[in-house]
Amino acid sequence: MRILLAALLACAYARTAKAGEAFTFAVLSDTHIGHGGDDAARRLKLAIDKVRSTDAEFVFITGDLTHSARPEQYAQVKALFDTFTIPYFPVLGNHDIWPYHENVEDKLPDGDLLFETTFGPVFRERASRFPGFLKQAGPVWDPERKVESYYQNYAFVHKGCGFVALDWISRRHAILGYPGAHAQADLHDFPDGTYRWAEELKSSGALAGAQRVFVFQHHPLRIRWGIPDFLFGFSHGEKGKLRKLFTGDWGVFAGHHHRAWKGDAFDEQPEVPVIGGLRQVETGASMSGSMVTLVRVAEDGKVTLRQF
Ligand SMILES: [Fe+2]
Repeated sequence: MRILLAALLACAYARTAKAGEAFTFAVLSDTHIGHGGDDAARRLKLAIDKVRSTDAEFVFITGDLTHSARPEQYAQVKALFDTFTIPYFPVLGNHDIWPYHENVEDKLPDGDLLFETTFGPVFRERASRFPGFLKQAGPVWDPERKVESYYQNYAFVHKGCGFVALDWISRRHAILGYPGAHAQADLHDFPDGTYRWAEELKSSGALAGAQRVFVFQHHPLRIRWGIPDFLFGFSHGEKGKLRKLFTGDWGVFAGHHHRAWKGDAFDEQPEVPVIGGLRQVETGASMSGSMVTLVRVAEDGKVTLRQF
């Protein structure tokens, strides 16, 4: 796979690298379609209108697209996303993996297959629009959970910047008394799991020429103070591995917390300006505030953020 990644993305970089060309993209998160009657859909429509009022070239949605991974929720959220007038890139969240309805839930965390079939045509269109767009094909045998998984990992290069979406969603069940999947993150560190896929993407050197690399995932690397990492995000040991993986310049966009936040992804201090480290930007939940993060990459590579 390493040679394939290098060939595809190096080729994409050669054709699309236009360092110095300014552009804008947008980020939404946690749309939770299916929660609260029509409220989540109404607020997503407002967020889509906000994006339409900007000069964003495309938009990422960093997970929890649905509230409980039901087929009708996937269908509804896709229909709403299809009203974007620019390309959209969906990312898997922990609410998107284990279908349930009231007290009845599927036996397996197979929401990733629903995600795959729902957004398959979307990703095929993106592959034709963004040269070198690369998406991992499934299924992958998960030797830890003894299930087949469809990891939603993909990458492309646009105007000299790398864009990478990573699926760290746990396929474990939620803690006793809660339906659906666990809120923790998993590295999936086994052959063709997400960690190995990202390692190979990096070691291929395919993104080495990118002036900035933007990563999109549901789980933040840094969790809100007072919440145990291992219950809601990455364990201490997992973060150590991720420090080795995320060494490029710029940072990670995430949701999960349902808050707007920006700072250093690994520094354990309160919110501080980032000086040279990996950044973390969280976008508040669309389901409650229709928040949009707008990211502007200037000609000199400077990145500015606006959340509204
Ligand atoms: Fe959420």
